[in-house]
Amino acid sequence: MAILVTGGAGFIGSNFVLDWLAQCDEAVINLDLLSYAGNLENLASLQGDGRHVFMQGDICDRALVDRLLSEHQPRALVHFAAESHVDRSISGPGAFMRTNIEGTYTLLEASRQYWSGLDDAAKAAFRFHHVSTDEVYGSLAPQDPAFAETKTYEPNSPYSASKAASDHLVRAWHHTYGLPVLTTNCSNNYGPYHFPEKLIPLMIVNALAGKPLPVYGDGQQIRDWLYVTDHAAAIRAVLASGRLGETYNIGGWNEMANIDIVKTVCTLLDELRPDPAGPYSRLITYVKDRPGHDRRYAIDARKIERELGWRPAETFASGIRKTVQWYLDHPDWIARVQSGAYRDWVSQQYGA
Ligand code: NAD
Ligand code: TYD
Repeated sequence: MAILVTGGAGFIGSNFVLDWLAQCDEAVINLDLLSYAGNLENLASLQGDGRHVFMQGDICDRALVDRLLSEHQPRALVHFAAESHVDRSISGPGAFMRTNIEGTYTLLEASRQYWSGLDDAAKAAFRFHHVSTDEVYGSLAPQDPAFAETKTYEPNSPYSASKAASDHLVRAWHHTYGLPVLTTNCSNNYGPYHFPEKLIPLMIVNALAGKPLPVYGDGQQIRDWLYVTDHAAAIRAVLASGRLGETYNIGGWNEMANIDIVKTVCTLLDELRPDPAGPYSRLITYVKDRPGHDRRYAIDARKIERELGWRPAETFASGIRKTVQWYLDHPDWIARVQSGAYRDWVSQQYGA
């Protein structure tokens, strides 16, 4: 038995693959393009492990996806691969339309063909699990209720619009063709192997380098934060027992303003790696706001708890401490991901 994972060399995908193989012996076929965000070093501990088969390739490559499905006969496809950074989607939306929409469409069509040819038992067991985001729901006002699965889609960025489009395709392939799909919409993740273009790892690596900590606008935007292995556990639960065609919202019950996240990171670094120059919070710098910046996201994760018994295991206090410690323990990983391409992005985004 095997599962096919897309994007398994990225932040959440690599944590999922490591977690999966720590929990069971079912093989993982891992299809990842190794874009700037993909990093095989995240999976170094699986070197020589026959349960992990890595294939570098594009989810838009139909012939390749067909070949992987027919060669490995997976019983499920778990789809993480995406362009995932909102700021990059603002400066260059094209890659998001291609990977997130066309890529999902390609996987759906390849899966439909593969699934149609399976025998009845394998057909009934097959799952297409689409990993999506809470950002498809749009932005909340302070008193609005948290996002439930019934919330209207109101995506506001090129990233969230492309993810919303992919969610709609997945829904349609279930409704029209009967493809056995599951969709999960999760809040902001954090943890090990998080690429330092996103808020939490960027703040950690900049603080350690004595660089400014850029807070967009007034820093009062609110996100719900979930430790990445809790997301992996939620996906396992949905894949095992989720109802076909349903969506499940996943969140940490942990709404926080960006500025409070940044201050928490600073306080932990003050404790774990004190800087003789003074508290890290001295580096906090308010910068120009992100265009169209969503004000607040919040997840109502009661459905997945009620139906599948999933709840996050980490609190924010425990998860953020582990995360900061992980970055302190992995200076070589940080140095290697800060390649030329990374430096180009940082100077384009924060240069001024
Ligand atoms: P990431 O950017 O760290 O990783 C994405 C991975 O996809 C990379 O390994 C990359 O090489 C690969 N990839 C990109 N284009 C590809 C293509 N055309 N073909 C094959 N592989 C390709 O992203 P992440 O943060 O790990 O997010 C994974 C998924 O989870 C995404 O679908 C994202 O929308 C969703 N999600 C992310 C968060 C979050 O907080 N990061 C929250 C909710 C949902
Ligand atoms: P990010 O990690 O990019 O995730 P998303 O935009 O998908 O929620 O950003 C999290 C929040 O932090 C978001 O409100 C934007 C803000 N932010 C900053 O204030 N400064 C930064 O340098 C970055 C990257 C993000």
